[in-house]
Amino acid sequence: MSGLLGKIASGVLVTSFVVIGAAVAHSESTGNADADARIATMKQLGGHMKAVAAVAKGEAEYSPALNKNAAGIKAIAAGMGDLFPVGSGGEKTRSKPEIWSSKADFNKAIEALQVASAGLEKAVATGDRGAIGQALGATGKTCGGCHKPFRKPKDH
Ligand code: HEC
Repeated sequence: MSGLLGKIASGVLVTSFVVIGAAVAHSESTGNADADARIATMKQLGGHMKAVAAVAKGEAEYSPALNKNAAGIKAIAAGMGDLFPVGSGGEKTRSKPEIWSSKADFNKAIEALQVASAGLEKAVATGDRGAIGQALGATGKTCGGCHKPFRKPKDH
């Protein structure tokens, strides 16, 4: 009997943890699934860039695993146009309306990242720190090249 109660009690405990976890995640949601997915992907992109930067700065050893980060950046760049469906902007996101009203310029900003990330992939494949650093700088410029005109400041 007490064993059963224990099981029930721990079941309740687990359930309440899940609920708390969901509540926390929900408070960070924009309320728009497309926007949430976009922001999550941008965070992944930032993570890949950070991994490459650590090697470029000499804070981490080069390893072939870095090719996966480079491939990840390139893949996200390739799919970036799909991250901004019409109707996924709004107050709770940092996406400026110009993304949809100046589509040609926005697409150019995506293309710039696509070109740079292809160069980064090649540089990472060489394993040469100097080359990686240079290509990383060029890629980072394209992040800013889009964020500046098309992303709202953090405390918008
Ligand atoms: C073509 C435009 C564009 C490019 C290129 C771009 N971003 Fe973004 N990024 C955005 C926009 C717009 C947002 C705001 C998204 C939102 O809140 O709806 C954003 C948001 C982010 C965020 C914030 C996520 C959060 O916590 O809210 C990070 C991190 C990020 N980008 C990293 C990068 C990195 C790193 C690169 C370059 C490798 C990059 N982005 C390239 C448009 C771009």
